Amino acid sequence: MRILIVGSGGREHALAWKLKQSPRVSQIYCAPGNAGIAEIAQCININVEEIERLVGFAREHQIELTVVGPEAPLAAGIVDAFNGAGLPIFGPVKAAARLEASKIFAKELMRKYQIPTAESRTFTEAEQAMAYIRSKGAPLVVKADGLASGKGVVVAKTVAEAEEAVRRMLVAAEFGPAGARIIVEEFLTGEEVSVLAFTDGTTVIPMVSAQDHKAVYDQDQGPNTGGMGAYSPAPVLTPELLQQVEREVLQPTIAGLRQEGIIYQGILYAGLMITAEGPKVLEYNVRFGDPECQVILPRLESDLVEIMLAVINRKLAGQTITWHEHHAACVVMTSAGYPGPYQQGKIITGLAEAAALPEVYVFHGGTSAHGSHLVTAGGRVLAVTAWGKTLEAALNKAYQGVSTIKFDGAHYRTDIGHRAIKAGAISLASR
Ligand code: AMP
Ligand code: GLY
Repeated sequence: MRILIVGSGGREHALAWKLKQSPRVSQIYCAPGNAGIAEIAQCININVEEIERLVGFAREHQIELTVVGPEAPLAAGIVDAFNGAGLPIFGPVKAAARLEASKIFAKELMRKYQIPTAESRTFTEAEQAMAYIRSKGAPLVVKADGLASGKGVVVAKTVAEAEEAVRRMLVAAEFGPAGARIIVEEFLTGEEVSVLAFTDGTTVIPMVSAQDHKAVYDQDQGPNTGGMGAYSPAPVLTPELLQQVEREVLQPTIAGLRQEGIIYQGILYAGLMITAEGPKVLEYNVRFGDPECQVILPRLESDLVEIMLAVINRKLAGQTITWHEHHAACVVMTSAGYPGPYQQGKIITGLAEAAALPEVYVFHGGTSAHGSHLVTAGGRVLAVTAWGKTLEAALNKAYQGVSTIKFDGAHYRTDIGHRAIKAGAISLASR
């Protein structure tokens, strides 16, 4: 089988790595890919949003399965275009991808189908938003409606901070059309966890749990990033809690969309806050998280190709998905300055030594080949991933891998998994 992966980060490297293990796969292409992906797939020079060119490539090369990594092409309708051309593709259609592309659409769906989430109001006028903020008082959360690469969410500790966020979104239009409508919502407290599931529009099968670390510095300090590391399982998600999430969040979301005439096929990602009142949805994503994908896929025992085809053919009900019992951890190495401006083209060394460590795999995020060297080519450069019998073992190996890798200005968090370790309750009671 010939497969096309759309994307260029650590998530897509993990997808290529896992798909390559399927005996059904003969050739993998990746558009546009990166230097790490190029070791296992043929990278092609087409960007993720060039949908017509991707359709043309898939047709010409008789691609039998296309897998989409990032949200932007999904929101732009890549799945609708491939469906229209009769080409099999894994991911939700544009109407379903609105769950991530419009936080207001997601809120309205949750309200209509009684899915637990933070209380919120929608605004397009700054004056009204400010008046509401003053009447509520801090803390509050201000969110741009549209896609903003994780930067459109401001957790405001003071009224002034919330007002400043409103000004940046509605007045200065820093996020363009993505911030032309905003949500102001209640601040929730509790522990965060992500639950991802495969769904064919009717059947929903959750994956093992994962937790990422969004802040750039240790102890969750500094601005939010796309994700600085992750681990799986997350002990906070007990089997009982997972059942509650399935019953109160995952099932009603998919059933609600079906009521609205939208068949959701692909991955549904629910970002949750486990509050004293139970799990509440912070956000939906319509794809694998990055770096959650890098810790979930090493734990997947089943053939990912089979699962993806079952989703596309709406036959997920008959599918058994099995997982390894081991723990996985991933530490992201970034360029100095990320998530702000950063330099590229720094020479990376020590990758072969890291790769030689047992149960360690280095997924590439932003890298490119430059002559005989490998150089940095993005904010998140590498996702050093390891697995083992315990979270401690997995983390130790991941950090051992990190210690062999060098590039100018390399930054990483030293406390990945700290919450789970502190909780102490790492056992197979969590999945
Ligand atoms: P989101 O992109 O919506 O998941 O938001 C990014 C991060 O902001 C989340 O991972 C949370 O840490 C935080 N966040 C979002 N919404 C809320 C909320 N209502 N209460 C507290 N924290 C929030
Ligand atoms: N790690 C969070 C995301 O991929 O959105």
